[in-house]
Amino acid sequence: MKKVVFSGIQPSGDLHIGNYIGAIAQWVKMQDEYDCIYCIVDLHAITVPQDPKTLREKILEVTALYLACGIDPQKSKIFIQSENPDHPYLAWVLNCITPFGQLERMTQFKDKSQTQKEGTTAGLFDYPVLMAADILLYHTDEVPVGEDQKQHIELTRDVAEKFNKTFGETFKLPNPHISKFADARIMSLQTPSSKMSKSDIDPLGTINLLDSEDRIREKIKKAVTDSEPSISAKVHGQGNGAVQNLLTIYAAFSGCTYNTAVQKTQGKAYGQFKQELADLVVENLKPIQVKYKEIRNDEKYLRQVLDDGRNFAISKSSKLILEVKEKLGLV
Ligand code: TYM
Repeated sequence: MKKVVFSGIQPSGDLHIGNYIGAIAQWVKMQDEYDCIYCIVDLHAITVPQDPKTLREKILEVTALYLACGIDPQKSKIFIQSENPDHPYLAWVLNCITPFGQLERMTQFKDKSQTQKEGTTAGLFDYPVLMAADILLYHTDEVPVGEDQKQHIELTRDVAEKFNKTFGETFKLPNPHISKFADARIMSLQTPSSKMSKSDIDPLGTINLLDSEDRIREKIKKAVTDSEPSISAKVHGQGNGAVQNLLTIYAAFSGCTYNTAVQKTQGKAYGQFKQELADLVVENLKPIQVKYKEIRNDEKYLRQVLDDGRNFAISKSSKLILEVKEKLGLV
């Protein structure tokens, strides 16, 4: 029996190369070796305010992007989280055993609640428990995510262990599967101390998967570097996050290791390096964009993929929910 992979992305903005390098590129590679389930986590997206019309549009955009990036519905399942009510059901059950204090320590919550201020909701606080439910419902072995999600997976393991200890062996403990590229944390091109993010207010900080060629070139040209004219040996060290980030993107898109990227680019003037990097990114994103354009408007096809995914998801998760209810005395 193949091991199970589960992962998801929020349809809350434009998908960017951080999502691609940290998550989707790994998902594509794992399809042959694992039974993969990839979710569009719309219930997570609504933990911060969303415009309903845009959200509906984004859900289909993300579906088409999964497919365009190479997720093959013959091999993997794709579904929308809100179409399987077992997710919020299990989340509620897990809420009842998750320590409040542990949720208070989640870094993503601390960051996001600072932006939301008084608008911070119980849903945002509870976000990691719904994520734990997503993962545990499918007896998941591996969760391919960016490094920023590691803490949530540790929480998932803790909650699963607590349930298993209290009510008997039920859930499998999942492992985070982090890409080798700089521990899979791609930073903003403008503020390299923060991660590249869908909610970045500076549009020059992120390269979106659907950005035009001109836009990609402009963003890379304007990316911050350091005060040197060329890439110096110093970038190996701790010092310059901006250049290290560009080298990580270079490595990810040329399929080499970070060290090879450093060797290949050593001494290059920033102007030339940036041009090569832009060529690489454009070349890698082009086939994705072409495929995306082909399928985005074929809503019948997208709906077919999503229906198949939902039916599969429910057929798996409903068995586990029955087991959970029995163990809790809810039947
Ligand atoms: P989201 O939508 O914020 O991010 C989706 C995936 O992209 C990765 N990622 C990055 N990787 C590298 N560099 C970046 N700058 C960067 N930004 C985002 C994230 O690590 C993630 O893998 N909570 C999840 C969604 C989720 C989920 C799940 C994931 C909900 N339920 C169950 C796995 C399993 C999230 O952060 O989505």
